[in-house]
Amino acid sequence: MDCRECRVGCVFVRNGQSVYAHNVRVLLGDGGVWVLVELSIRGTMKDDWQTPPDLFSVLDAEFNFLVDPCCTTKSKLCLSGCTIDTGSDGLKTDWAGLPAYVNPPYSRGNIEKWCEKCLIEARKGSLVVALLPCDCSTSWWQKYVMQAYEIRFLPRRVRFIDPETRKPAGAPTFSSVIVIWAPGCGGAPPRCKSWDWK
Ligand SMILES: C[S@@+](CC[C@H](N)C(=O)[O-])C[C@H]1O[C@@H](n2cnc3c(N)ncnc32)[C@H](O)[C@@H]1O
Repeated sequence: MDCRECRVGCVFVRNGQSVYAHNVRVLLGDGGVWVLVELSIRGTMKDDWQTPPDLFSVLDAEFNFLVDPCCTTKSKLCLSGCTIDTGSDGLKTDWAGLPAYVNPPYSRGNIEKWCEKCLIEARKGSLVVALLPCDCSTSWWQKYVMQAYEIRFLPRRVRFIDPETRKPAGAPTFSSVIVIWAPGCGGAPPRCKSWDWK
């Protein structure tokens, strides 16, 4: 069962009964009465955490992005953006062959949808760069990341920006990669490298 708010498995069982706890990070129970059913990186990660400006500016200097397909009017990073708060859905919009920067929502099912869209748009002519969790055990990695042009493994963890405080969020619990889908990619395995933006 999924949390009613964020649709991920923030669910606990106590004495045989399910209890919902939205966005719980830490489980501390006396005597082990609380049992964590599922708490994945997606369960601890807010969907709207933003890209650190220093990472974005290094990538932007290299790729000259023109489209941010997943953002709000407040978090838009590029000249053009699909701002979900105004009804513009980046999953349904044509990215018009323009270079796009994608930092998708990480909650369950979202990364897969966005990776599929990234590959589709790259095949139509966009150069697409995405900031994703490093998780090769997922179906989205096997289906879509393995068809990318390049994977950059980040040797340090990304401290995302909390949109409420505008400050770096707590210590990151997972590694990230930059995945690049280039027009015409998918014919050969992605080239891989370690890449430090600092
Ligand atoms: C992880 S944040 C990234 C924000 C910003 N682009 C950045 O990298 O700092 C993902 C954003 O995409 C928005 N979003 C979710 N689904 C979307 C959709 N279908 N189309 C456009 N934006 C979407 C969320 O509201 C959230 O603000």
